Amino acid sequence: MAWNSIVSFNESSPFYFFSVVSGCSVALGAAIARRLTSPKPRIVPSASPATEPSPGVPKRSGNPAPPGMYAPPRGDVRIAVISDLNSQYGSTTYEPEVIKAVELIPQWEPDLVLCSGDMVAGQYPSLTEPEIKAMWEGFDRNVAAPLRAAKLPYGFTLGNHDASSARGLSGNFLFQTERDLAAAYWRDPSHPTGLNFIDRGDFPFYYSFQQGDVFFLTWDATGNIVDPQQIEWAEQSLASAVAQNAKVRIVVGHLPLYAITYGREFPGEYLDRAEELRALMEKYRVHTYISGHDHAYYPAHKGKLELLNMGILGSGVRQLLNGNSPLMKAMTIIDIKTDSDTVNYTTYNMRSLKVIELAELPRLIATPTGQIYRLDVNESDLTEAEKALKFIPTY
Ligand SMILES: [Fe+2]
Ligand SMILES: [Fe+2]
Repeated sequence: MAWNSIVSFNESSPFYFFSVVSGCSVALGAAIARRLTSPKPRIVPSASPATEPSPGVPKRSGNPAPPGMYAPPRGDVRIAVISDLNSQYGSTTYEPEVIKAVELIPQWEPDLVLCSGDMVAGQYPSLTEPEIKAMWEGFDRNVAAPLRAAKLPYGFTLGNHDASSARGLSGNFLFQTERDLAAAYWRDPSHPTGLNFIDRGDFPFYYSFQQGDVFFLTWDATGNIVDPQQIEWAEQSLASAVAQNAKVRIVVGHLPLYAITYGREFPGEYLDRAEELRALMEKYRVHTYISGHDHAYYPAHKGKLELLNMGILGSGVRQLLNGNSPLMKAMTIIDIKTDSDTVNYTTYNMRSLKVIELAELPRLIATPTGQIYRLDVNESDLTEAEKALKFIPTY
């Protein structure tokens, strides 16, 4: 398949306009929702982690990797990160890169598989309940069941195509049925995640868990507004002893703090209050915020926070803003050395199966809300021309 045909999916789709419109309505709806009284999120004390039936302990070896692929030095905790798996609206099948990744993941012997959202292809109003259920069955058949069979815990955050939080003018969720069916899938005891839950929050929308010495928190960033009461929950969770005593803290949400690709540079496609959210994560020493949605790999940093913008495996790979790097589908292996808080990313181009080098990516991205820097680039090392680089709207 030509890369161009993949790129053009969302924008050329008759439904793309709806997607943008619904993004706008997220902001409008949420502004209204702020004035509505909604129940406070349930905050569960974390005296003892609630553990689902464990899928078992997979075998471990030295620096495992699929034959013929680069084998990174294994960390104390290894995470296989995947993102944006879905094909066209209503699809129950997956592109070859998704199938390949699921096949290869066990060979890296990760402690955890983490997905930054968009696992099925919803956010389309005419999808019926049987069609939405069929999508989750397709996800289970193609992704979740093989990973369960490999005894790999599966952590995730929901995406806008799984369970959009876009709201209508009356404050109601526009995709309530999709949210209900996503929750039903994940709360079904026959679909265990194998996670060591710390606080089930409102699983699967927001929750926390721990694998090894790493604390994970996921929030509902399926729209551009993380509910203020949920931010309060996140602050309490990140401030908790279990989070602070962990060696490394990671937050996962679908929408990024900063837009990095064309087609995602519109307000509504990245998180509102991003600077406040970044400050919150910095305050509680979150190492990395992992996000999807922009459909391009770009490991970055801003302030004291690392930003792992995840590459895509499904349909709709996108071009980075200011940069003409090749379009790539990707997945990442994270190796964490907990004694030194070292977090290493090894990201593979899922077409060539070669490692994507940082030098292949732009040194910085001028996003609509400020510059972010490639992981290995210090702000102090920028040239004057780079410092002056500004986001240029195409709309
Ligand atoms: Fe996506
Ligand atoms: Fe998305």
